[in-house]
Amino acid sequence: MKTFIPALKFEKLTGFYDKIMHLTMPEKAFKNALIEQARIKSGDHILDFGCGTLTLSLMMKQQCLEAFITGIDVDEKVLTIAENKRTDSGFEIRLDKYDGKFLPYSDETFDKVVSSLVFHHLTTVQKKQAIREIYRILKPDGEIHIADWGKPSNLLMEALFFFLRLFDGFENTSVNWKGELLNYLTGNGFKYTIECKKYDTLFGTLRLLKARK
Ligand SMILES: C[S@@+](CC[C@H](N)C(=O)[O-])C[C@H]1O[C@@H](n2cnc3c(N)ncnc32)[C@H](O)[C@@H]1O
Repeated sequence: MKTFIPALKFEKLTGFYDKIMHLTMPEKAFKNALIEQARIKSGDHILDFGCGTLTLSLMMKQQCLEAFITGIDVDEKVLTIAENKRTDSGFEIRLDKYDGKFLPYSDETFDKVVSSLVFHHLTTVQKKQAIREIYRILKPDGEIHIADWGKPSNLLMEALFFFLRLFDGFENTSVNWKGELLNYLTGNGFKYTIECKKYDTLFGTLRLLKARK
């Protein structure tokens, strides 16, 4: 039995992920905003947590060739797509498989962790575990930058997010829905937690968050 939710919930849809993202979400805009927010610089060690098909990692590398980018994901199938995209790009990006519990890195390895549309796939227990692990592998003063669904900004967003929750699951999306993700970061030791930007989309309100170790 799978202990994770694949990119589009059903394994058979994983191959269509990039197309569907491109057609239904302001993908370039919010991923660029997340990258801008992370202010990546030469020599930075960056982890793309739940890298999926690697789009965000490739965009980061394109914008800062001298940064060291690592992508990690739990899903073998999505990692195969990521590997193919990495090969086509010719970029040097490290790809790792996550067991869903412990990040395979020593304490204080990364300057920044970025994560897009991943936390709503995690149960509450998995969210806490992931945040603890991310905190551990960040250097002192390291930062986490998250783009994920948050509290709906109006009734229309509430209704649209309801359908996404129906699809992706009510338990794993409830912390997002209540707007509690920032509290989870603070509760696990992060400081200076703030929301930087929001986008109202076809699936609900996407919020860009930031915190520091
Ligand atoms: C909606 S996709 C987002 C992919 C990519 N970050 C993006 O923005 O396009 C969610 C990703 O989270 C991954 N995922 C699911 N459970 C996970 C977990 N426990 N830890 C890390 N990644 C997980 C899935 O395999 C999938 O690739």
